[in-house]
Amino acid sequence: MKVFIIGVSGAVGGLLARNLIDRGDDVAGLVRRKEQRTDLSAQGVKAHVAQLADLTADSLAPMLTGADVVVYTAGSNGGKREVTAAIDGEGVVKALEAARLAGVSRFVLVSVLPEAGRGHDLGDDVEFYFAVKKLIDVTVSMSDLDWLILRPSLLVDRNGIGTVALGPAQPHDEIPREDVAVTLALLLHEPRIRRRILELTQGTTPIAWAVLANVP
Ligand SMILES: NC(=O)c1ccc[n+]([C@@H]2O[C@H](COP(=O)([O-])OP(=O)(O)OC[C@H]3O[C@@H](n4cnc5c(N)ncnc54)[C@H](OP(=O)(O)O)[C@@H]3O)[C@@H](O)[C@H]2O)c1
Repeated sequence: MKVFIIGVSGAVGGLLARNLIDRGDDVAGLVRRKEQRTDLSAQGVKAHVAQLADLTADSLAPMLTGADVVVYTAGSNGGKREVTAAIDGEGVVKALEAARLAGVSRFVLVSVLPEAGRGHDLGDDVEFYFAVKKLIDVTVSMSDLDWLILRPSLLVDRNGIGTVALGPAQPHDEIPREDVAVTLALLLHEPRIRRRILELTQGTTPIAWAVLANVP
């Protein structure tokens, strides 16, 4: 399978790329600096260098041509509003349109549980981030592409445990990024799971079973 990852230089994107390469998949992606391309190329990832904010759907589309699926996992993680708007918002719209132009029918978005941080004083920028993420889920879910939205709970960097809770609604908790990446890789290989929003958090179900349990 040929997978193009927007956000391949990030924590989840990098773990996903490694997981897919280990499975024998062909992984490409978008980075913003040449040194990131060099690092990724040593791992077998073919990276294109460009500023996502400067790209248009037309200029991004040729990079996506030939991919079986586009995964969008870039994000500001609640940083400055202009970055959130450009990367968590407009960037997704651009990528969705570019995928359509390139003839890539599958589009997988890493989003966030909308109630994350509820009850905490998050500050305006983080509130804005959650609002943008939710509206982009709406946009992707209305697309006629073969979309899938994965909403993980709070991402943590401890080792993955290989078990999760995955389904249309999950409580907000936390989950190791490694387990998110393994779940994503298996979801990419399960085309029957499509046009769905799935929430993901730590749990007790082996990841392969959790994915199979969501096949319609
Ligand atoms: N943090 C959480 O608890 C949490 C929970 C649920 C969902 N999420 C979502 O999960 C996704 C992946 O998270 P992660 O931990 O992998 O994030 P990460 O390690 O911070 O990676 C973010 C990715 O987005 C790219 N990016 C950020 N700002 C950019 C900009 N201005 N222009 C171009 N690219 C930019 C980064 O590129 P560089 O490497 O060049 O910086 C990187 O590839 C994000 O969409 C996040 O919103 C996060």
